[in-house]
Amino acid sequence: MMTMTYKTILTEIEGNIAIIRLNRPKALNALSHELMGELVEALNEFDRDDKIRVIILTGSDRAFAAGADIKEMADENTVSIMLKDQFATWDRVRHTKKPIIAAVAGYALGGGCELAMTCDIIIAAESAQFGQPEISIGVIPGAGGTQRLTRAVGKYKAMEMILTGRPITAGEALRAGLVNKVVANEVLLDEAKALAEEIAKKSPIAVRLAKEAILKVFDTSISEGLEFERKNFYMLFSSEDQKEGMKAFIEKRPAAFTGR
Ligand code: CAA
Repeated sequence: MMTMTYKTILTEIEGNIAIIRLNRPKALNALSHELMGELVEALNEFDRDDKIRVIILTGSDRAFAAGADIKEMADENTVSIMLKDQFATWDRVRHTKKPIIAAVAGYALGGGCELAMTCDIIIAAESAQFGQPEISIGVIPGAGGTQRLTRAVGKYKAMEMILTGRPITAGEALRAGLVNKVVANEVLLDEAKALAEEIAKKSPIAVRLAKEAILKVFDTSISEGLEFERKNFYMLFSSEDQKEGMKAFIEKRPAAFTGR
């Protein structure tokens, strides 16, 4: 099923899953202002749609995304880039309430790697390459790379990747803890869909509160995080899904969750 029409991304709905495909093939899916604006719009569209339970974000076989659009940035100065504040738009990706699975093939460089890391789960094709090459064009990551990469792979690997700009392969990314799984190129989307379908069967309200609680890890102390988790747990006891889930367990039948 098709959804709203966009110029730089393609969107599609399959059952409870929305698939967003970055689509600027000539620029290796460089993340222009227009593309990021459309991506945020599509994420909002699917976040609002009760039928959608999981979102998959993908690119082409050649590139998930080769970074922010260098041609758009080349002539900026400090004031003009601050006034445009493009990364404020990017930052809205992380406020998506539904889980986002990044299905990454080919280049995931600079902003492309940062965008994948803003997603909740990363499935990589064997062809995937992850890197933060900004140092080679005289800047540094600006959309979360220094923070999210360091949290994912640790200080030493992050230093090496960001200071040399050298990308790592899908296998290295798996060993470093940057991706969940590496799969053959041809089955990338099928693997992402299978995982999305598994999550889509769970209570959407429990999935949402679980995602929120996991993301809290990145900006709280352990005691605040534990308190947040406990409150979300207690809150679920006013949902119909909690009643249904526990009743179904006791009655030895599959649960039918509604997200209420
Ligand atoms: N921005 C704009 N255009 C880009 C681009 C980018 N990030 N990456 C690739 N393109 C364009 C190229 O300019 C080229 O366009 P033309 O045909 O008009 O010349 C087209 O895509 C194909 O690219 P190449 O010819 O370079 O393809 P290749 O196979 O030889 O190399 C590559 C592929 C190694 C990915 C190379 O394109 C490359 O190094 N790209 C830039 C990677 C990069 O530095 N990314 C970081 C950007 S800054 C950033 O992201 C900041 C941040 O933190 C958000």
